[in-house]
Amino acid sequence: MKLTSRARFSTVCLHAGQEPDPSTGAIITPIYQTSTYVQEALGKHKGFEYARTQNPTRMALERNIAAIEGGKAGFAFASGMAAIGAIGTLLKSGDHVIVSDNTYGGTFRLFDKVLTRYQLSFSYIDTSKLDEVERAMTPATRMLFVETPTNPVMRITDLRAAADLAHRHDVRLVVDNTFASPYIQRPIEHGADLVTHSTTKYLNGHSDSVGGVVVAVRDDDIEWLTFVQNAEGAILSPFDSFLVLRGTKTLALRMQQHNANGLALAEFLSAHPKVGHVYYPGLPAHPQHELAKRQMRGFGGMIAFDLGSLEAARRLLGAVRLHALAESLGGVESLISHPATMTHASVPAERRAAIGITEGLVRISAGVEDIEDLKDDLTQALDAV
Ligand SMILES: Cc1ncc(COP(=O)(O)O)c(C=O)c1O
Repeated sequence: MKLTSRARFSTVCLHAGQEPDPSTGAIITPIYQTSTYVQEALGKHKGFEYARTQNPTRMALERNIAAIEGGKAGFAFASGMAAIGAIGTLLKSGDHVIVSDNTYGGTFRLFDKVLTRYQLSFSYIDTSKLDEVERAMTPATRMLFVETPTNPVMRITDLRAAADLAHRHDVRLVVDNTFASPYIQRPIEHGADLVTHSTTKYLNGHSDSVGGVVVAVRDDDIEWLTFVQNAEGAILSPFDSFLVLRGTKTLALRMQQHNANGLALAEFLSAHPKVGHVYYPGLPAHPQHELAKRQMRGFGGMIAFDLGSLEAARRLLGAVRLHALAESLGGVESLISHPATMTHASVPAERRAAIGITEGLVRISAGVEDIEDLKDDLTQALDAV
């Protein structure tokens, strides 16, 4: 199974990084559930010594995702947060980082409560406004950490312009691409130096694994991440690697349906009299709709909308039947959540208010169910509001 350099996205998703198993010809990469590898003689082995350092299932996944994102090397970790933690080790005390101001709450918590203990400093800036990013740059700035679209209010950062700005200041651009998925946007093509994912979301896609990945292009980053993945040891297990590898085979198919359902639900909610503002980059009313059309392939399955009050949100969340009330996103089944008390509870109230995460805000991760069933469910739930 040799991929040509012209292989298209869905073909890369299905095949990259995987060869039939050399010992049996099994078409699917086996789960190499082993802690160590027997050596033929002293210093003579097959490239595998100890499973924290090398595992064939994890290696296949890392090569697969590196190819999907258009990077040179991938590193799989035990969670999305472990992946972001590994990116943090590229910094040295005294360094400064600029971060999208409504970044995932867990990322804010890691930066604000853990990494600040190591003399690192962070500025939280609306990265959709690159003039503000430029003003926040200091001689100590080493990293620009961007999420686009942001969770949950869907602000878009122009990746090409962000990469140009970062590189003018000798700063790395890191993109958390979890929310969009590489089907929708490939930040490395726009100049990003590092891409990270919670594979827990769209890459695995089936809500049955927690994991993370970093994709790198720079040789110095690849060398350091290879070292640190082994040194810290927060690796993805062989079984989880197998699950995510199975997930990426259908990434293109799933994302087409997430895109279609996301857009249909956003349009449905916009037209509903009980719904206030709808945040979705695919709506012409979205302030960055034109940029989203240029930068993204479809607009994804994530939608947020305002019901005006905590009480209204509580009634809707209590009335849905098909949408499951749960944190997380990117699985084949539709989820609904309340950012202020769930995913963004660790963000201080005044920061939440500044970003637009009101008490009436509800977020949907549109799954791949029949769109009419999703609309029926929301129709009956909105009747209860
Ligand atoms: C955008 C984003 N990045 C990172 C993470 C962290 O990933 P994990 O939960 O796999 O640690 C999440 C989790 O929700 C996320 O939404």
